[in-house]
Amino acid sequence: MAKKPDTFACRQCGDTFSRWAGRCPSCGAMNTIAEINAGEARLAARSEGQARAARALATEDVAGTGAVAVERWPTGLGELDRVLGGGLPRGAAIVLGGEPGIGKSTLLAQVAGAVARSAPVLYVTAEESTEQVRARLHRCQAAAPQLQLCASDDAEAIAGTLRAGGHRLVVVDSIQLVTLEAVEGEPGGTAQVRACAAALVEAAKRSGTALVLVGHVTKDGGLAGPRLLEHLVDTVLAFEGDRYADLRTLRAVKNRFGATSEIGLFRMGGHGLEEVADPTGMFLADRDASIPGSCVCPILEGNRCLLVEVQALVNPTEAPQPTRRVAGLDQNRVAMVLAVLSRRLRLPLGGCDVYVNVTGGARVQEPAVDLAVALAVASAWKEVPVPADLVAVGEVGLGGELRPAPRYELRAGEARRLGFQRLLGPGAGSGRGRVVAARLADAVTATLG
Ligand code: TYD
Ligand code: MG
Repeated sequence: MAKKPDTFACRQCGDTFSRWAGRCPSCGAMNTIAEINAGEARLAARSEGQARAARALATEDVAGTGAVAVERWPTGLGELDRVLGGGLPRGAAIVLGGEPGIGKSTLLAQVAGAVARSAPVLYVTAEESTEQVRARLHRCQAAAPQLQLCASDDAEAIAGTLRAGGHRLVVVDSIQLVTLEAVEGEPGGTAQVRACAAALVEAAKRSGTALVLVGHVTKDGGLAGPRLLEHLVDTVLAFEGDRYADLRTLRAVKNRFGATSEIGLFRMGGHGLEEVADPTGMFLADRDASIPGSCVCPILEGNRCLLVEVQALVNPTEAPQPTRRVAGLDQNRVAMVLAVLSRRLRLPLGGCDVYVNVTGGARVQEPAVDLAVALAVASAWKEVPVPADLVAVGEVGLGGELRPAPRYELRAGEARRLGFQRLLGPGAGSGRGRVVAARLADAVTATLG
């Protein structure tokens, strides 16, 4: 029996349904479902069919029947190749998301230039003029004879070009600014973004062209219509960075062609994005180890280990409500560590302003940084520096106990490579340079006396 067509769509997530509902079954939003017109409904049905076909493809892979390796091309940026799982897969549909100004167009100009060294590539700009794109390409030294430019916001025409199959890679910058005439709604609205992406992906799949769609991230942090784009494409990449630091991280939110654990690191330079190939020690550049209140911690970002410096300043105050300022760390975890220091180690922090931050604009989410936070604060309060050759890693429990962090060997190895002789933490093993402490009190005694 034929399925009743989907004639309702959620304005929030873009998913479509055959019936109206007060609460969206996909994203849970209330009162976001509305009827859509026949043209949109046809497009929705088409993209649903595509999603089904894509799911069937994935199943074949899991069964390992053919185990056919996807053909891949280097993007000219090892960091991006790494995130993609070994280069740009043939015919992959990719969304590159990120805030305006983060460097999406720059990254893709460089990729387009690199791929165009061996095959035809088309860069479609819907946001800028071809002159602007050309200027960027020259600035990034990415101009190549087989790289073509086009300024267009007509998704139908772009899809037609894709279907003709004359390019190895087509970049569309951005999906929010292209439109399909058959579809009602503003450019960048759910209906347009969904319909355009579906049409472009379908056309690209038909000709085996690799397609990269740029997606601006909205204020609330989501790609506009993230759900609908996510199920339409093979890979969703998120390009992120700190506005104040020049470091950019690229991670795969979804990746049909590889793992999602790898991250790529870049720096925005004068000639485009530069790869940060050995980032382990980059946050420690200006460190002065002789100042009390500083402790280094090996943290994990994907499969990589980075050394970060936690700094603390503790200043006695008469104020009834002492100041607590935290940057680059989870504020609640720092508050917990301060409470453990006060209660279990009798540090009189209640009468002190406490400032804790991570240097270099790094952001740490791992609980394994707790011990370094505790040691930095204790060191600041005692005015005794942490030994310069020591790094600390471990989670602090409410009882003042320490819990081991995962991938200890990787962290120890990287710390040693950068000249840190001692690794302090619980379950540190018995190797050279390992300082084992099961409790925070022992760790503080071992470090600061
Ligand atoms: P852009 O790629 O246009 O960002 P997006 O497409 O994500 O909006 O680039 C953003 C910033 O990077 C812009 O402020 C200029 C800067 N930039 C450099 O610093 N060096 C360069 O070589 C280029 C091309 C851009
Ligand atoms: Mg741009």
